[in-house]
Amino acid sequence: MEGLCTILLISLVSLALTQGNAVLDDGDKQALLDFVNSFPHSRDLNWDVNSAVCKNWTGVTCSQDESRVIFLRLPGVGFHGRIPANTLSRLTALQILSLRSNGITGPFPSDLYDLKNLTYLYLQFNKFSGPLPANFSVWKNLTIVNLSNNGFNGSIPQDISNLTLLSALNLANNSLSGVIPDLHLPSLQQLNLSNNNLTGILPKSLKKFPKSVFSGNSISLPFSPIPGPPGVLSFHQPNSKPKNAGRLSESALLGIIIAGCVLGVIGLAFLLLVWCLRRRGEDGFAGNLEKGGMSPEKAISRSQDASNRLVFFEGCSYAFDLEDLLRASAEVLGKGTFGMAYKAILEDGTSVVVKRLKEVSVGKREFEQQMEVVGGIKHENVVELRAYYYSKDEKLTVYDYYSQGSVAAMLHGKRGEDRIPLSWETRLKIAIGAARGIARIHAENGGKLVHGNIKSSNIFLNPQQYGCISDIGLSTIMGPLPPPLARASGYRAPEVTDTRKTSQPSDTYSFGVLLLELLTAKSPVHTTGGDEVIHLVRWVHSVVREEWTAEVFDLELMRYPNIEEEMVEMLQIAMACVVRTPDQRPKMVEVVKMIENVRQTEAYNQPSSEAKSESSTPPAPPQVFETETSIPQ
Ligand SMILES: *[C@@H]1O[C@H](CO)[C@@H](O)[C@H](O)[C@H]1NC(C)=O
Ligand SMILES: *[C@@H]1O[C@H](CO)[C@@H](O)[C@H](O)[C@H]1NC(C)=O
Ligand SMILES: *[C@@H]1O[C@H](CO)[C@@H](O)[C@H](O)[C@H]1NC(C)=O
Ligand SMILES: *[C@@H]1O[C@H](CO)[C@@H](O)[C@H](O)[C@H]1NC(C)=O
Ligand SMILES: *[C@@H]1O[C@H](CO)[C@@H](O)[C@H](O)[C@H]1NC(C)=O
Ligand SMILES: *[C@@H]1O[C@H](CO)[C@@H](O)[C@H](O)[C@H]1NC(C)=O
Ligand SMILES: *[C@@H]1O[C@H](CO)[C@@H](O)[C@H](O)[C@H]1NC(C)=O
Ligand SMILES: *[C@@H]1O[C@H](CO)[C@@H](O)[C@H](O)[C@H]1NC(C)=O
Ligand SMILES: *[C@@H]1O[C@H](CO)[C@@H](O)[C@H](O)[C@H]1NC(C)=O
Ligand SMILES: *[C@@H]1O[C@H](CO)[C@@H](O)[C@H](O)[C@H]1NC(C)=O
Repeated sequence: MEGLCTILLISLVSLALTQGNAVLDDGDKQALLDFVNSFPHSRDLNWDVNSAVCKNWTGVTCSQDESRVIFLRLPGVGFHGRIPANTLSRLTALQILSLRSNGITGPFPSDLYDLKNLTYLYLQFNKFSGPLPANFSVWKNLTIVNLSNNGFNGSIPQDISNLTLLSALNLANNSLSGVIPDLHLPSLQQLNLSNNNLTGILPKSLKKFPKSVFSGNSISLPFSPIPGPPGVLSFHQPNSKPKNAGRLSESALLGIIIAGCVLGVIGLAFLLLVWCLRRRGEDGFAGNLEKGGMSPEKAISRSQDASNRLVFFEGCSYAFDLEDLLRASAEVLGKGTFGMAYKAILEDGTSVVVKRLKEVSVGKREFEQQMEVVGGIKHENVVELRAYYYSKDEKLTVYDYYSQGSVAAMLHGKRGEDRIPLSWETRLKIAIGAARGIARIHAENGGKLVHGNIKSSNIFLNPQQYGCISDIGLSTIMGPLPPPLARASGYRAPEVTDTRKTSQPSDTYSFGVLLLELLTAKSPVHTTGGDEVIHLVRWVHSVVREEWTAEVFDLELMRYPNIEEEMVEMLQIAMACVVRTPDQRPKMVEVVKMIENVRQTEAYNQPSSEAKSESSTPPAPPQVFETETSIPQ
């Protein structure tokens, strides 16, 4: 009997403890009660004084030890009038405050200044008015601020610049006026300032955002190019060419003729090669290996050695072994920086690309480790490494085969009637895809993985027609970079020429060259008149410096109306990637953001049938190109 009483007593006490607010700071509970009792609202809140605040009160979340209220989310409760003073200010541990979609009036609540830990603030869709807080910097941890759809007026305080963690700022649909301050917010990912009364010129620091986020204001979007003073990157219309236009077209013509000759010779050589291969066709891949110094018998016998197997990655649906590979008919795809690439057609009809690596400088263990890192990358913009093979004499990597060929082939292949021109749309998708793939690669291996060999012949199109990057991470396991093949040298960052070591910034450089290649359809290194070797980067610099920006672009792109602005933006991104100083180049994640923002919302890019590249008059330059003379900064 006595025992039962004790048990009852204990459970009663513990019930009281959990049901009551013995743990929660009394001040927080009282603050909430004062807040709700003096703030009229139309929907009932179940904030029962006798129930557990942390467990039972709608919209209230406490810290793990239930000592403080850390989140308060009361959207759409029908609050109206002003936020009562000295209520919320007492919830000093508050991190998230959401009072969105109510009918709250009055100025920005000064109570919030005391919430030093505030991280997310959602006050959108209310009727707040008056100025924004002048001293945002009291909230050191502020990350997301949404004050959109209110009646705030006055200007945007410069003080927002102090919010180093701010990642999203939405001030859309208010009555803010004045000039947008130059906000240097390194973490800012999302911004919307649309539908206000803002004026002046868009500061450089915010240029990476799409134009739509500034719509509904009277802001001029300036066009300050990367090299030279404003206005340099103006878009010249083909029929109002500057004085020495004729000269360039002459030299261009010469270039075309010479390039044609070179192509012809290359084409002939290629035909010869194909013919030779046909003859050797029955030899298959083994024959090709033999050509490189190893007899097929030797290779096969080696494949019987258990430690020298083709190693497949998880999720790989291929079923073949080295023997199959050696039996497969093979065709040379080309000579790459690190060795020959072959297309091998297996007996079951599947095609794979086999790369035969020369001069691997690392041992088996390190090779395998690198392959595991690379093979572990599953990303729609990264060509998957399917398998690898390592033995003393032979190192192979196996990839999917892309029948469309590489971007290099698409860009520089023969331009004839049957060739489908690469539309701007496709080029954008190639650029975005490749950038995403490289950014993903750079995130691998603790953020240290380097691609090391970015070039258009290593980019393919995935099924969605986005760029997809291949040949990853080989540069780190190879010996010092061999002297570049003529065409590949144009991709090499200046510092790589000296150090022979690639890095993530040098990847950015190579990517910038790829962008220039997409824009100009010119090879990174090409010849024009005589022996003169033209480096694409230098050439673009010189053309842009002479205010010839329009001359840079691939003539094939001229058939697409209304893309000038996007092309110029892309050119600017490319120029930012190929700056000389490695640490001034943007990181690939930033490049991805920039390219994503190039795309305009307006309808565009329908190849108009009547427009021909030479005779058409491009549409009037968009507003962006107007130079604003009064800069009220
Ligand atoms: C809320 O409190 C009531 C008693 O007031 C209790 O019956 C109910 O279980 C509680 N709900 C939760 C989710 O704790
Ligand atoms: C702010 O948050 C940190 C970490 O969550 C905590 O240690 C600190 O006590 C909080 N500040 C206040 C005033 O509650
Ligand atoms: C600035 O912040 C303090 C709190 O640190 C607050 O009391 C004051 O009202 C704020 N001033 C303005 C002008 O917003
Ligand atoms: C706020 O930032 C400070 C450092 O500035 C940090 O110590 C604290 O933990 C942060 N609070 C929260 C809730 O993240
Ligand atoms: C801010 O609120 C608007 C309107 O509800 C919404 O569309 C937007 O996604 C919000 N932004 C952020 C950063 O939360
Ligand atoms: C903001 O609006 C209030 C009225 O709501 C007005 O008195 C004040 O002058 C306005 N401030 C600015 C800068 O327009
Ligand atoms: C905030 O930034 C302003 C300059 O915009 C600076 O004068 C001020 O000292 C900064 N305040 C804090 C608290 O960092
Ligand atoms: C601004 O208001 C308009 C109309 O009220 C609405 O359609 C739009 O979504 C709002 N913008 C934002 C960013 O909330
Ligand atoms: C914008 O500013 C103009 C002039 O400064 C003013 O007439 C107009 O009412 C303002 N519009 C809004 C929505 O505040
Ligand atoms: C910004 O808001 C406007 C409408 O006010 C909307 O059209 C636009 O898509 C928004 N932009 C972003 C990036 O949210």
